[in-house]
Amino acid sequence: MADESGSPIRILIVDDNRITRENIARLLDFEADLQVIGEAEDGREGVRMAHELQPGVVLMDINMPDMDGIEACRQICLSSPRSRVMMMSVQGDMEYLRGAMSAGAREFLIKPFDYDELTHTIRKVFAADPSPVERAVLAAQEMAARTPAEAGVGHRVVQGIIVAVFGPKGGVGCSTIAVNLAVALSDRPDANVLLVDGNLDFGGLGVMLDLRPTHRMVEVLERFDPDDPFLMQQLLVAHSSGVLLLASPGKPELAELVQPGSFVELLESLRKAHDYIVIDMGSTWTELTERVVELADRMIILVTQEVTALKNGKLALDLPGIKDSSPEKLVLLLNKYNRAWGITPQAVGDFVGRPVASVIPADRPAAVLAANRGEPLLLSTPGSGMVRPLRQLGDLVPGDGQAAREHALGVLPEAERPPSIISRRRPSPEPDRAEEKAAPRKRRGWRRWIPFLRWRRGD
Ligand SMILES: Nc1ncnc2c1ncn2[C@@H]1O[C@H](COP(=O)(O)OP(=O)(O)O)[C@@H](O)[C@H]1O
Ligand SMILES: [Mg+2]
Repeated sequence: MADESGSPIRILIVDDNRITRENIARLLDFEADLQVIGEAEDGREGVRMAHELQPGVVLMDINMPDMDGIEACRQICLSSPRSRVMMMSVQGDMEYLRGAMSAGAREFLIKPFDYDELTHTIRKVFAADPSPVERAVLAAQEMAARTPAEAGVGHRVVQGIIVAVFGPKGGVGCSTIAVNLAVALSDRPDANVLLVDGNLDFGGLGVMLDLRPTHRMVEVLERFDPDDPFLMQQLLVAHSSGVLLLASPGKPELAELVQPGSFVELLESLRKAHDYIVIDMGSTWTELTERVVELADRMIILVTQEVTALKNGKLALDLPGIKDSSPEKLVLLLNKYNRAWGITPQAVGDFVGRPVASVIPADRPAAVLAANRGEPLLLSTPGSGMVRPLRQLGDLVPGDGQAAREHALGVLPEAERPPSIISRRRPSPEPDRAEEKAAPRKRRGWRRWIPFLRWRRGD
């Protein structure tokens, strides 16, 4: 099998063991449709060579000095999304597998593997459909590469839409809503979504998504180059849903290193490459929160039926910057709603002085289990009553290309305004619930590898 143009599949081998590299290259030499185009002896060189050579498939060892195969795989998926990574390791244990899969690897071969297994797997990986991460990163690269004028007449938004999620009382569900909203938005055709952990001290979105970011916000800010959006992408971490995450600084004492001005500058730059940026702003009101609110296109304020949350919600809605927000910018969300507690959404709206725009019911087992498993509830618990309203919440964010571009046109300098607005995006169809229920649940992330592993072990 070759690619569509009939050219062979171009392969990069990354392994610190020269003999292994040579053996693999020699084996692949027998196949007319497989061509080894390069060999790298450590992860760092592998990332660089993948970027330069753009191979179709990368054969990646796991254990290597300097940068290991898992980190190299993660970086390749974010910087050279067309290169699909296959891991090779003598270790078949779960921890490795899990790490490799969450880094974006497409397959996993346990050494020693035989010739047929290798060639068959390379072809399979190459022919597979693009993963959500591959799609999201390609879309982000395409968006970042456009000039504003091109972006206007072309098909993608000039600037992504920023949605800030703020819960004026800790524990009202800010992080839960932010994660699931990001996942809901990433389901839109071609949308690439960035989730930002704005809880600079105790942010936990990485844990909620079972991701182990190697670059965190402080490092991203240090290496920030507004003219190099590709560098920025490498500093993010990708979830299997396609959502990209910019993780919080990781240690509470690092929070103060993030200056509001540079954070806003970073967001301004990132919105050139992402259709949607969802920011979990947590519960504290600081100068940074104020600046983000100013910048945001949608501001979701969370309350619950608890009196303290309502009191804080009312205070938040009275803050300068929030008070004067237009009705479509400000979304008042009532989370953990339980009819039995007597306070209706209407009563909540009357109390805080703004109508409730979204009601998410309480489903504690689903919410806690999803967080503890490191899987967004929207994907892991489709039967929860929270799912439908969470998807509907996404509808409050401008969705089709048309709306997003109109928004973007407002910020384009007059001279760069495109002559017409042409939308490529299909409107997102209302999912067929019956079909959704009947369809068997797709295994996501590393779990889909369990049968494969059992089979490999001969269980
Ligand atoms: N709709 C909901 N129903 C039940 N529990 C929820 C709901 N939303 C969030 N939770 C739970 O509430 C707790 C706090 O949520 P979290 O998202 O961490 O809040 P915050 O980020 O505002 O502190 C978590 O245990 C979470 O699982
Ligand atoms: Mg939180």
